[in-house]
Amino acid sequence: MAHEVRAVVAREKGQPVSVETILVPDPGPGEALVRVQACGVCHTDLHYREGGINDDFPFLLGHEAAGVVESVGPDVEDLAAGDFVILNWRAVCGTCRACRRGQPWYCFSTHNATQKMTLADGTALSPALGIGAFAQKTLVAAGQCTKVDPRARPEAAGLLGCGVMAGFGAAVNTGGIGRGQSIAVIGCGGVGVAAIAGAKLAGASTIIGVDIDPRKLATAERMGATHTVDSRDVDPVEAIRELTGGHGADVVVEAVGRPETYKQAFYARDLAGTLVQVGVPTPDMRIELPLIELFGRGGALRSSWYGDCLPSRDFPMLIDLYLQGRFDLDAFVSETIGIDDVEAAFEKMHRGEVLRSVVVL
Ligand SMILES: NC(=O)c1ccc[n+]([C@@H]2O[C@H](COP(=O)([O-])OP(=O)(O)OC[C@H]3O[C@@H](n4cnc5c(N)ncnc54)[C@H](O)[C@@H]3O)[C@@H](O)[C@H]2O)c1
Ligand SMILES: [Zn+2]
Ligand SMILES: [Zn+2]
Repeated sequence: MAHEVRAVVAREKGQPVSVETILVPDPGPGEALVRVQACGVCHTDLHYREGGINDDFPFLLGHEAAGVVESVGPDVEDLAAGDFVILNWRAVCGTCRACRRGQPWYCFSTHNATQKMTLADGTALSPALGIGAFAQKTLVAAGQCTKVDPRARPEAAGLLGCGVMAGFGAAVNTGGIGRGQSIAVIGCGGVGVAAIAGAKLAGASTIIGVDIDPRKLATAERMGATHTVDSRDVDPVEAIRELTGGHGADVVVEAVGRPETYKQAFYARDLAGTLVQVGVPTPDMRIELPLIELFGRGGALRSSWYGDCLPSRDFPMLIDLYLQGRFDLDAFVSETIGIDDVEAAFEKMHRGEVLRSVVVL
């Protein structure tokens, strides 16, 4: 029997989203039905609405969520009704060539639900990042549910499902930032600030936040930046070099997703330093760099899919740190809103007024 629930749908490129009644099937083999409790509004949802990801409209938006398992498919063993879970968008397969060589965070064949959620007229929906959680219930692959300590509040816990994990992991997993090192983070939205918080937890001694919005820089400072740079006023590459003894940072995280900030990140590294691209560009963007600089500066140019995380390893660990008061997930929740307020939340995000608006369902 299909479940009728309210959900946020993007029907057409560039058009405002609408709240519609959708149909969510009961879980089949390998699937789980989750009653969503909270879901953060991420920039990637807006990318979907803008047609920046692909053209598979209509999209069911929302992918940064926590909730309670309502039921599971017949063969699902390690998950049961009542489990408190964070949804992840990279449920690893365990058998592809990346998984088999011991790098499951790169899994090339991640799982989603097989059955389709649909509009009332039967039109299949494309769930954002294979989740679709601006909905009272959603259908996912069982592996997309990661059990965590139920004492965590869903509004905060859900944020680990995308932006916070991506930013944290970009600094810690992909960038390998460690004790005594320097890091610069370009773009201090939800993702960038999580990279800053991760660098602080990992023991980095110089943590530089760069943004074009002073409100974001104030948040960056609160979350652990030792220095901030307003790149409207000064050249961020020069400023980062000055703050790192004239050399550049050991790790630079690009958390905007634009060619000009990528170039800044490229040049703001120390020799043999690491650039981590976690910001997602659109398909039309291009970058031009002198090949000799790529060679001469050495180091690593890395992209960070989902912070190179393993949900089963990283979500419970970060929830434990949160419950111990060592990782302030609550600080990412700027406001809680209703399901009808997602379009307004996009505008607030666009105006830079929030780190995260979180839909409570
Ligand atoms: N790689 C992944 O797995 C992953 C996961 C989640 C999000 N993302 C991407 O990360 C990026 C950031 O997401 P977010 O949710 O933090 O978005 P956001 O809108 O909250 O933050 C972006 C920040 O960049 C700043 N900014 C814009 N232009 C700038 C410039 N020229 N120089 C410096 N700062 C600038 C903005 O002021 C804002 O603070 C997006 O591209 C998003 O799609 C990637
Ligand atoms: Zn795999
Ligand atoms: Zn996201």
